[in-house]
Amino acid sequence: MKRTLIKDLKQHLNTEVLIQGWVQELRNLSKIKFLILRDRTGDMQTVAFKSETEISSFELINELTKESVVEIVGIPKENRESRWGIEVGIKKITVISTAAAPLPIDNTDKSQTNLDKRLDHRLLDTRNLHKQAIFKVRSKIVKIVTNFFDQNGFTNINSPKLTKIGVESGAELFEVNYFDRPMYLAQSPQVYKQMFVGGGFERVFEIGPVFRAEKSNTMRHLTEFTGVDFEMGFISDYTDVLELIENMFIDLISTLQKEAAEELKLLNVEHRIPTKIPRLTLDEAKKLLTSKDKRYGSDEDLDAEGERLISEIVKEKFGSEFVFITHFPWKVKPFYQMKDEKNKNVTKSFDLLFNGVEICSGSQREHRLDVWRKQAAEKGLDPEAMPEYAEIFMYGCPPHGGAGFGLDRITQRLLLLNNIREAVLLPRDPVREKP
Ligand code: 4AD
Ligand code: MG
Repeated sequence: MKRTLIKDLKQHLNTEVLIQGWVQELRNLSKIKFLILRDRTGDMQTVAFKSETEISSFELINELTKESVVEIVGIPKENRESRWGIEVGIKKITVISTAAAPLPIDNTDKSQTNLDKRLDHRLLDTRNLHKQAIFKVRSKIVKIVTNFFDQNGFTNINSPKLTKIGVESGAELFEVNYFDRPMYLAQSPQVYKQMFVGGGFERVFEIGPVFRAEKSNTMRHLTEFTGVDFEMGFISDYTDVLELIENMFIDLISTLQKEAAEELKLLNVEHRIPTKIPRLTLDEAKKLLTSKDKRYGSDEDLDAEGERLISEIVKEKFGSEFVFITHFPWKVKPFYQMKDEKNKNVTKSFDLLFNGVEICSGSQREHRLDVWRKQAAEKGLDPEAMPEYAEIFMYGCPPHGGAGFGLDRITQRLLLLNNIREAVLLPRDPVREKP
């Protein structure tokens, strides 16, 4: 007999089916036994009656443990009283794999288990349809964003994660012992994506791991995260990059509403499809923030609280969950960004905030070799020590720009999760090394 998935049971009323999954809940009464079975598509009440179920199967249910894997042959019938509208009458039940008892964590919706303990036993934690929904949405985001880049002429590349080049100021490198020579885990694909814009692809993107040796214990920092990076050549201005990102989020949210409707409903989140994303210069944002009693120096970036507050202001004023903050001080940004012609103290850079958190940073890059060299020196870097980076600008390089997102942060803010760790299957932070 072929397996029927739980979501399809309604199409098989009153005919015998085979269903397989995990035992989510059990209630043993003397003449009737209830078992809630869960597979990847949902959960379902199944019922054994002493009078209708094979006697060995009826007795077997007494010994079952929660989260064991079982196979049930039975008949789906209408039942208005069950929350599913149907239930499956069990004819026969077979145990495929027994779960040890007791379980180390409670993975039901009623669970109060703290996140740390849940992460220690993540494989049990994700045996919960709400938790799975987070990762199904995340998986859809990757698919939709990949399609979006594909449709816009971007080539999906994979750049090395073992590297000699680090360029993100402020982001520390993890050193790796590479046959007794030092190498580093890539802190961003920045150089490589610029390399292959120059390498003739014009438009490239990459979705891959990014490593940051930062000892930040916050709700939005990890030491390993998944970067969504892209870079595009022949731009006329950094605003071409902003426009692409705007279109990406219009496409992402509208497609998610179609393709992840069920998960979004389960997680109780609703988003309006964005249209034009408001753009504020950092100076404009700082002025608005004075109304909330936040004050910054001229060379200062916003802190986490400032990001949260400016998002609140923008939501009130423009009704947008997103806001671009542009023109960051040269002092706080990496050397490879292009300076603004009118005001050399700022770069053609931007951050995108989504519901109060930075999810993306980007800029137009400096592609003129002489200026690039000067800017490196200005930041105390030796351009001669980065010959591979310099080569990108030596043999013909178009004006270009791009940005990097954290996939984990996109998921976190989209689903309004407090902690980034909820959006990552197995997070890594300064103290978490396992599983
Ligand atoms: O702002 P970041 O450091 O910018 C770059 O890496 C540039 N190369 C991007 C570019 O193309 N100019 O990182 C980009 C994004 C952040 O906006 C954030 O979403 C995420 O990566 N991110 C982190 N996510 C989780 N944990 C961390 N420690 C993160 N650091 C950055
Ligand atoms: Mg940033």
